[in-house]
Amino acid sequence: TKRVAILISGGGSNMIKLVESMVGEHPARAVLVGSNDPQAGGLKKAAEMGIDTFAVDHRPFKGDREAFETELQAHLDAAKPDIVCLAGFMRVLTENFVRKWDGKMLNIHPSLLPKYKGLHTHQRALDAGDTEAGCSVHLVTAALDDGPILGQARVRVEPGDTADTLAARVLVQEHKLYPAVLERFAGGSTDPIILG
Ligand code: GAR
Repeated sequence: TKRVAILISGGGSNMIKLVESMVGEHPARAVLVGSNDPQAGGLKKAAEMGIDTFAVDHRPFKGDREAFETELQAHLDAAKPDIVCLAGFMRVLTENFVRKWDGKMLNIHPSLLPKYKGLHTHQRALDAGDTEAGCSVHLVTAALDDGPILGQARVRVEPGDTADTLAARVLVQEHKLYPAVLERFAGGSTDPIILG
């Protein structure tokens, strides 16, 4: 059984879906949830589900990413995860850190990559007049939101959509896509999954 650590920064709705999916015949189990924000709502929810949690507040490191990541790495190493899932983790990771998890770290991003890497993806899709939006799960590489794509889900952009309404519709698909990709990945396949 593969051991999975999940990193979050906020409410952790994707984290919850991942944890809930790893039961029964699933090839993986959730062993750890961590955050860069000690107040992240998802930490409490993970603890309530019986998962070990930790926080490494990035703020005292004042931009020293390497020192922050050394702490992060220590927590991860102690749990010996086979797979690390970034799920709304909002810190950019250095090349050094990413290399340690090469081929083992997944991220979910709220756009149809390679479109709209970085932030404000939904507003950028609306501003561009796109007729569809969506989300992508990819392997994490040193370049931001750029690794091999393991799955994508599409939604239609509806008349009157705002960034918030679009984000909510995409999030529903995130909650289906990420568990599906993780299960297939933990089972040893990197064949992309396309939903919608
Ligand atoms: C999700 O929409 C995720 O795709 C996005 O943050 C949200 C986290 O929600 N991630 C990024 O923007 C990464 N740059 P959650 O905490 O409820 O899972």
